[in-house]
Amino acid sequence: MSALFESYNLAGTTLSNRVVMAPMTRSRAPDDIADVSTALYYAQRATAGLIVTEGTPISREGQGYLFNPGIFSGEQIAGWRLTTQSVHAVGGRIFAQLWHVGRVSHPSIQADGRDPVSASSKIAEGATAYGYDEDGKAGPIATTAPRQLTTEEVARVVEDFAQAARNAVEAGFDGVEIHGANGYLLEQFLNPGVNDRKDRYAADTLENRLRFVLEVVDAVTNAIGRKRTGIRISPFGQLFDMPLYDDIAETYGALLAALGERRIAYVHVMDQSGFSDIRGDTKVTTSDKIHSLLRTAKPDLKDTAVILAGGLNRQRAESLIADGTIDLAGFGKPFISNPDLVARMRRDWPLASADADTFYGGTMVGYIDYPAYDAR
Ligand code: PHB
Repeated sequence: MSALFESYNLAGTTLSNRVVMAPMTRSRAPDDIADVSTALYYAQRATAGLIVTEGTPISREGQGYLFNPGIFSGEQIAGWRLTTQSVHAVGGRIFAQLWHVGRVSHPSIQADGRDPVSASSKIAEGATAYGYDEDGKAGPIATTAPRQLTTEEVARVVEDFAQAARNAVEAGFDGVEIHGANGYLLEQFLNPGVNDRKDRYAADTLENRLRFVLEVVDAVTNAIGRKRTGIRISPFGQLFDMPLYDDIAETYGALLAALGERRIAYVHVMDQSGFSDIRGDTKVTTSDKIHSLLRTAKPDLKDTAVILAGGLNRQRAESLIADGTIDLAGFGKPFISNPDLVARMRRDWPLASADADTFYGGTMVGYIDYPAYDAR
């Protein structure tokens, strides 16, 4: 049988196969609290070896879109418990994706109408948040200029990540994935075209540029343990106004080595070339560069699994696992419309395509009503 469908030991958590349901924003939590429909949605997909939830904001400040279920209040923790219990009841495993959007936000969703925060005060050109317009109507809205976090505030954000990780464990999650990808706060520190700081998190040296990300990783592993900690990154990604720069491969090579030293459970790499149709225009082909980065970094990642997501299908996933480039394969959109994706891939049953009009927000249509394949 193909390794894709065999069980896998992820730093002590047994997964029933190597298929990962990738994190996807669905924006269906009216009060930013995961509820019974969230629980049903994930339980329907729990034959994935591992589910990574949609991004769950670690604080109000970290939120960029309305209706995303967060993980900072008691009610939010209780809400997520419905999901973890439902997924575990049917034998699944689930990590929470801890999310701070940084500058990809808008004052209308921040406490007291404050400006969003970032590593710098540079605006994310062309990016949209999801907030309220002047008439109080909810909808996509252009991001505004952020305020640069002070050095002291950076320490507070690091602690917000650690507290969110504790909250996730309290909610019953098997672990957490730190969102370090796709143009959000961690990448705003990593990218020298965005980070214009003058303090110890400045872009002047690679060490300083990596400092915030590694402080977050260390705070989270101290809070809940390395075996329950993963991170998502998107090398070569340009989503939400992340400019390309000269030493991307060197940056991510150093980051991967530092993560490998910390022996965290996994690194989840997002290949944005499979993502060009969603909220950003990133029509770049980065797959080859990403594969070669991963092959180079593999010896540094002895105790850290590699997940790749973005544009995979069964055959590509199997060949990347077989040649040792990756350990686990992430699938996003196919999981929206194929709750039984694992069975369909395994048996070569046809895949249903997802309706992009119901990706974000709206009703239960396009959320919990995609059926499993009827093989009769
Ligand atoms: C989105 O909601 O469009 C979104 C969220 C998280 C990502 C990327 C895109 O990492």
